[in-house]
Amino acid sequence: MPLARSLSITSLSGLEEWDEEFDLEDAVLFEIAWEVANKVGGIYTVIQTKARLTAEEWGENYFLVGPYVESNVRTQVELIEPTNPALKRAIDKMNSSGCKYAAQCEEPPHILAHFHEWLAGLGLALCRQRQLPVATIFTTHATLLGRYLCAGSVDFYNNLADFNVDKEAGDRQIYHRYCLERTAARCAHVFTTVSQITAVEAEHLLKRKPDIITPNGLNVKKFSAMHEFQNLHAQSKNRIQEFIRGHFYGHLDFNLDKCLFLFIAGRYEFSNKGADIFLEALARLNYLLRVNHSDVTVVAFFIMPARTNNFNVETLKGQAVRKQLWDTAQTVKERFGKKLYESLLVGQLPDVSKMLSKDDFTMMKRAIFATQRQCQPPICTHNMLEDSNDPILTCIRRIGLFNSSADRVKVIFHPEFLSSTSPLLPMDYEEFVRGCHLGVFPSYYEPWGYTPAECTVMGIPSISTNLSGFGCFMEEHIADPSAYGIYILDRRYRGVDESCNQLTSYLFQFCQQSRRARIIQRNRTERLSDLLDWRYLGRYYISARHMALAKAFPDTYFYQPHDSDTAQGFRYPRPASVPPSPSLSRHSSPRQSEAEEDDDRYDEDAEAEKDRLNIRQPLTLPSKKGPALPYTLSSTSLGE
Ligand code: UDP
Ligand code: G6P
Ligand code: GLC
Repeated sequence: MPLARSLSITSLSGLEEWDEEFDLEDAVLFEIAWEVANKVGGIYTVIQTKARLTAEEWGENYFLVGPYVESNVRTQVELIEPTNPALKRAIDKMNSSGCKYAAQCEEPPHILAHFHEWLAGLGLALCRQRQLPVATIFTTHATLLGRYLCAGSVDFYNNLADFNVDKEAGDRQIYHRYCLERTAARCAHVFTTVSQITAVEAEHLLKRKPDIITPNGLNVKKFSAMHEFQNLHAQSKNRIQEFIRGHFYGHLDFNLDKCLFLFIAGRYEFSNKGADIFLEALARLNYLLRVNHSDVTVVAFFIMPARTNNFNVETLKGQAVRKQLWDTAQTVKERFGKKLYESLLVGQLPDVSKMLSKDDFTMMKRAIFATQRQCQPPICTHNMLEDSNDPILTCIRRIGLFNSSADRVKVIFHPEFLSSTSPLLPMDYEEFVRGCHLGVFPSYYEPWGYTPAECTVMGIPSISTNLSGFGCFMEEHIADPSAYGIYILDRRYRGVDESCNQLTSYLFQFCQQSRRARIIQRNRTERLSDLLDWRYLGRYYISARHMALAKAFPDTYFYQPHDSDTAQGFRYPRPASVPPSPSLSRHSSPRQSEAEEDDDRYDEDAEAEKDRLNIRQPLTLPSKKGPALPYTLSSTSLGE
């Protein structure tokens, strides 16, 4: 597939050194999106995580505009009076006259309005049609048609150039929305998208090549102790294990210490997000683990919101039974402890046969009786509204992964985003990810894909694909991604069955790693965080804004494209101490016994030092010039 010119990164220096000269004193920035303070998917994450950096640059002249949703406003917004007099007047006028006016004042500031996704596109089109003095940017995070075509049975990437876009949009009854999106893309001063692969798609489906690619970043948390994120993994894993104890009550015939937690998460687009091939690969993995008599058990979580009417009784009961066992153990322990204490107080060793009373035994028997269960542990945690034709459940029925004792792969479908206030699994998404071992995101359609990026900055390995923006970005900037726990599945040049085999083999290899190899791998994964930090990736948004201001207000602003277009791209080298793949990493220390390999108390200082020398050095290279921009200014004229 032909791809547009690649995004080339020359160093990972921070933004402080970058482009200080652009004077924004008289400018005001509005960023408009449906997902401002309104979580649907990844666009919310873009806006929310980028806000701090953008506010640092624009101060009080930065405004986010989103839908007014009472519950979101209550929980996510702090109501304040605007300090900018022009804005205050505009808001007062809007309030008194039903939003008819915008920013009419004596000395108007230069307004820059950045619209995200087709839903906000109408505002952009009206700005241009009414010839308002506003510089406009349109960022698309996916194309409507792309999403729809991929979700069907179309060979999307091989036919990108040939689609009759109007007909395809019409056939899918999205013509009006498609027109809105295409208009916004075409008439924006600057058009951007989140990855190379979506840039090519946009060029064919929206008929405009993006002026610049604005990859998605994250706010990377730096811990003072380097291994803090490993401790967090262990803590969160304990909490997931607690949930598993409840969910599988009566069937806990597997070793939790040898249990690996895999997960897929995101909006529920069954095949676009690759849930289809993940399930298929899990069935194959189940077979491989069984025939190889593996002592590893895999629990695969599917976190994808669907229509439900709340948690189901059996799942809630599982946690109640677990809690009852815990409470029983605590009560017996306390009584036991009291007797022991009293015996020691009078200088006697306790008579062990009298330490537990009849009552204690009755209580314990009752608790054990409650763990008897006739049914298998449930697949789905909720009552699904469309149970019989839900794609995940239908597929599970077909491949027969029913959480039976013999299965080495268990499946849990949680059709709701996670929340720390849930009565079932009270963890927020970040805590959950930290506690897992591997994120699996084998997407067929994924303009960026925040989920594997989030895994990376938390030091959790992931599988993505070479059809996702994230996967391509990592492939481009890391010499040997799998050595860092970034597995990139080939969905571009292989058929579905072949990709599925590749995925199965990644999963099987992962299951064969020792604990020690997993710890080393997590350390490596986490070291890639700088590459995904807004402190570094934010520069592409800055460029887009400068470009738009210069196009709309050429008398005031001048944008100089960066001359580093031809610079060599930045690439993380292979780690010096690499075990390049999980299967090899397993045997990296041949003298060690399996027990030692599973021991987490090893000294990896020498190895880490080698890696640091190898990796950190290029990160400190000064870069006054800033990064290369992926494209020069497009030839698209204003108002086209
Ligand atoms: N996510 C979440 N809670 C969950 C599962 C996912 O907040 O329980 C978020 C996740 O943090 C990520 C977003 O959903 O930022 C999904 O974004 P992505 O770019 O991967 O896909 P999209 O849904 O936008 O296509
Ligand atoms: C972290 C913790 C260790 C723990 C390990 C478990 O590294 O610091 O104390 O043993 O995680 O790793 P695992 O991959 O088995 O969950
Ligand atoms: C869209 C895409 C996703 C991307 C997100 C943020 O929802 O589906 O791949 O990460 O936007 O840009």
